[in-house]
Amino acid sequence: MKIYKYNNKNNLYDDVLKLYINEINNNPKINLGLATGSTPIPLYERLINSYKEGKVSFKDVTGINLDEYIGISRDHFQSYYNFMYNQLFKHIDINLENTYIPKDEKSIEEFQGILNTHKIDLQLLGIGSNGHIGFNEPGSSFESNTHVVLLDEKTRTDNQRFFNSLDEVPTHAVTMGIKDILEAKMIVVIATGDNKSDAVSKMVDGEVTESLPASVLQKHPNVHLFIDKDAGKLLKGEYKYED
Ligand code: GLP
Repeated sequence: MKIYKYNNKNNLYDDVLKLYINEINNNPKINLGLATGSTPIPLYERLINSYKEGKVSFKDVTGINLDEYIGISRDHFQSYYNFMYNQLFKHIDINLENTYIPKDEKSIEEFQGILNTHKIDLQLLGIGSNGHIGFNEPGSSFESNTHVVLLDEKTRTDNQRFFNSLDEVPTHAVTMGIKDILEAKMIVVIATGDNKSDAVSKMVDGEVTESLPASVLQKHPNVHLFIDKDAGKLLKGEYKYED
């Protein structure tokens, strides 16, 4: 795992942007594994600006999302379908027919078929404060493909901030499995803020265990972890932080 550490979050996202522009321009038909949550938003804003400045095109890009809530409709203001459309897709030239987001339990087979025929070149990941990736909660099998999950209470309370109340936060989701995530050729993980520090230290320095799903990334040969000082504060190694 390569670790890039920053004092300044803007510089962190600027560097992730450079990596993305490079990868997309080198392979205009790239299959991007996309993520939701607050972590990817500054990257998506930068990608939109770069597109508007003519530095990158998504015309031939395929976007495949990690996960989706179950129990809210696609037009709900907090569905990941809606998130992707509003935070990224509607602002760029991606062909919506080349975007895939899991929908519900009935769509699992179809979504898995997409994963099996579109190898992800570059997978973006945030990390849950409990170490989840996608919606693979602690205890998820490392051998899992796309499946339905019961959301951890920790995840529901973390995500309550996006809804009007905890009651409105769905109890279930559908997510790409850990086995699917590990199939990606390259993985970029971004973690910022104090509330991610415990999960980040266990992901990097802890044992590889299904109780901390992100720890499985230690086994992938091409993971690039971008962290700020707060998220990295519990790491054991001596790290020099870039500005
Ligand atoms: C969400 C998503 C994950 C995301 C994580 C962290 O619930 N399912 O893909 O990485 O939790 O979210 P945030 O970036 O808002 O901290």
